[in-house]
Formats: sequence, structure tokens, C-alpha cells
Amino acid sequence: MANLSTSYMGFNLKNPIIVGSSGLTNSVENIVEIEKNGAAAVVLKSLFEEQINHTISKTMHSTADNFSYPEADDYISNYTRQNDVDIYLKLIKGAKEKVQIPVIASINCISSADWISFANKIQDAGADGLELNIFILPSDPKHDASQNEAVYFEIIENVRKQLSIPIAVKISSYFSGFANTAVKLSWTGINGLVFFNRFFSPDIDIDNFKVTATNVFSQPEELAMSLRWVAMLSSRLHCDVAASTGIHDGAAVIKQLLAGAKATQISTILYKKGFEQIGVMLKELEAWMDKHNFSKLDDFIGKMSIKELENPAAYERVQFMKHFSGIE
Ligand SMILES: Cc1cc2nc3c(=O)[nH]c(=O)nc-3n(C[C@H](O)[C@H](O)[C@H](O)COP(=O)(O)O)c2cc1C
Repeated sequence: MANLSTSYMGFNLKNPIIVGSSGLTNSVENIVEIEKNGAAAVVLKSLFEEQINHTISKTMHSTADNFSYPEADDYISNYTRQNDVDIYLKLIKGAKEKVQIPVIASINCISSADWISFANKIQDAGADGLELNIFILPSDPKHDASQNEAVYFEIIENVRKQLSIPIAVKISSYFSGFANTAVKLSWTGINGLVFFNRFFSPDIDIDNFKVTATNVFSQPEELAMSLRWVAMLSSRLHCDVAASTGIHDGAAVIKQLLAGAKATQISTILYKKGFEQIGVMLKELEAWMDKHNFSKLDDFIGKMSIKELENPAAYERVQFMKHFSGIE
């Protein structure tokens, strides 16, 4: 029988499927079900930096004047009432009592301010690791790329000073020099990078004149974006890479491993098909490994990364040309 184990962030995982941060990982009951269905690790729903700052009685604006949004205050205040940090710490402790798989906490952050001192509590509560979900929307015309990017490095440096547990950083592809930034991030001592975070998008309700949220769940076609970057960078990074977004079946897991990911994170497919889909995907992975005579993941992780290919243009090409697209 194929050995599905892999190492990611310093964890020995029994297989490469991690349930990504989402509402699905926000209760101990669900986390128990996730483990029963075969996932190798779980990333908890993110706690927002603003929630932490609110709880430690700082005003939101003192933390990140340049990046916070006054109109978000009410939303965050309400959200905080329902989801204060104590509940989050209880979630970590509760999950650790009930499951054996690594429990990775998650913080959604936009600055390296007051909230950082709280990171210790996450470690003390028993989290096995911490995933920092960092995103600075480059929407402020007064900030150039280097100013926005400096925040990522500050956050990592400050959090690393506080913690001894492994740290992963989940990023988007919104960087002007993505490869350069990703490699530099991988040198900061973090244990993993997650490619990519995915955001829901704004839409406009044209009858009620309201901005609404759309596109909450991914489509399988969205796999291509992270697949390209995992393949291009996995061999150049100084930390593990986990793939996220558009992974809806076993074939997508296999593709990401071939591209060089050490693990994959899934969310949307579990909302759509339930936790049983974890087992289905693992069976697909196993059947494919048997078919191709791979006895362990290391036999093929990175086999299709840019380092292993004679013609890297397959990943580097972005413009249509008949030769590459097969379409005139
Ligand atoms: C309803 C929902 C809630 C999410 N909440 C979070 C979150 O709190 N923190 C986070 O880092 N990612 C969050 N995500 C993003 C997922 O972890 C994942 O990166 C993204 O959905 C892409 O993976 P998928 O294609 O498997 O859904 C959420 C996704 C969904 C669908």
C-alpha cells in the first residue's frame, strides 16, 4: 500500500490533505469529524487582528492607521462580541484534547502592532503551529510596493520573536515582484508558505444600491494560478510550500504535489460535498500512485516543478500562441 506521509512545517503528516482555515474549522465537533475523515492537519478559522486589538482595549485606528477602514468598525465590534479571543483559545484547547492531528491556529493580520503580544496565548493554548494570513490590499496610492511589502517582514519578525512553534504565512499573489518577495519571505525563518489565499469579491446589488459579497467559493479552474507558482518556486524556496485554492479532487492534489507542494489545503469542496470528500480524494491519490508505481510521496513531489523540466516555458508562458495553447 502506498505511503502517503509527507512533512510540512516540520510536522510529519500522515497524508498531504490539510483542511484550510474557514468556518468549517471553527468548532471542536467539526475538527473531530475532519480527523475521522482522514485529514492530516487542520487550520483553524482565522482570528482577526482587529478582534484581538479590540479585546485588549486598543482602538482599531491606533494599530494601523493607514490600513484600517472606519466603516468596518461596526462589523468588527459585532463580530468581536460573538467571537472573542477567549472562545478562540478554548477552541484550540478543545481541539487539542480531542484530536491527534496537528492543529494550526490562524491569524488574519494587516500590521505588526499590538496584537503580536497575543501570539503567545495561542502557543500556550496548545496550538501546534500558527498560520499568518497576511494581506495588505495595495489600494492606497500613497504606498508604494516596498512600503506594503515591508509590513509582511515586520509581522514575521515580531511574531517569530514571540513563538517557538512553527509558523506558516498564507499570502496572495498580489505582489509586483512575486517571485522575489516569496523567496525573501522564505528566508525569514518561517516554516511554510501557503499559495494562495483567496478573497471573496465585491459585487453591487443594483436594485438595493448595496455592495455585496460574491464569489465566496472557488471553482476547480482556479487551481491553475497556484499550480503555476508552486511549480515555478517550490525548488527555490527555503521553506515548505502548501497549495491552496481550487483543489477539488484527488487529481488536483496530485498536480500540486507534482509541482512541488508538500501539502495541500482544501475548503470549498468540503462545503460542497462534505467531509467524506477527504477520504475520496485520498483514495484517488492512492489509486494514482499504485497505477504509476510510486510507493511514497517523495518519489514524485516536485517531479513536474520548473527545476525538473527541460522546457520551463510551459509555466512561464502567459500570452496565447498556437504552440502553447493549441488554439488558433
Ligand atoms: C467560507 C470561507 C471562510 C474562509 N475563512 C478564512 C479565514 O478565516 N482565514 C483564511 O486564511 N482563509 C479563509 N478562507 C479561505 C480558505 O482557507 C482557502 O484559502 C480558500 O477558500 C481557497 O481554497 P478552496 O479553493 O479549497 O476553497 C475561507 C474560505 C471560505 C470559503
